[in-house]
Amino acid sequence: MPQVIFLNDPGADGEPKRITVPTGTTLLDAAKKAHAQVGYACGGVCACSTCHVYVRKGGASLSRQKDSEEDILDKAFDVRSSSRLSCQSKLGAEDVEVEISRESRQAYFDEHPDERG
Ligand code: FES
Repeated sequence: MPQVIFLNDPGADGEPKRITVPTGTTLLDAAKKAHAQVGYACGGVCACSTCHVYVRKGGASLSRQKDSEEDILDKAFDVRSSSRLSCQSKLGAEDVEVEISRESRQAYFDEHPDERG
């Protein structure tokens, strides 16, 4: 089963949060399971871009980007070649390392105000 590592979201031990999930799981569902700070304003239906992450490693093993994902990413902030919508990116067999976008983290705290530092 692949492991997802959230490079810029340390847990209580100071290490990046990580989670092992079954192949086919979306990065967003992995983030939720790991309690990583990834926002999801539309609930994961490819309609908002708040689940925007940068894939640092293992991107080739993720499900291919569909036109609908590209259309939504066009509206996101600070889009890079490594950008993906986590709700649309399903894991293959490889481990994946991601960096949570500023936009996504902001959305997460808007959704979870009690977790603001
Ligand atoms: Fe809205 Fe992914 S949660 S596009």
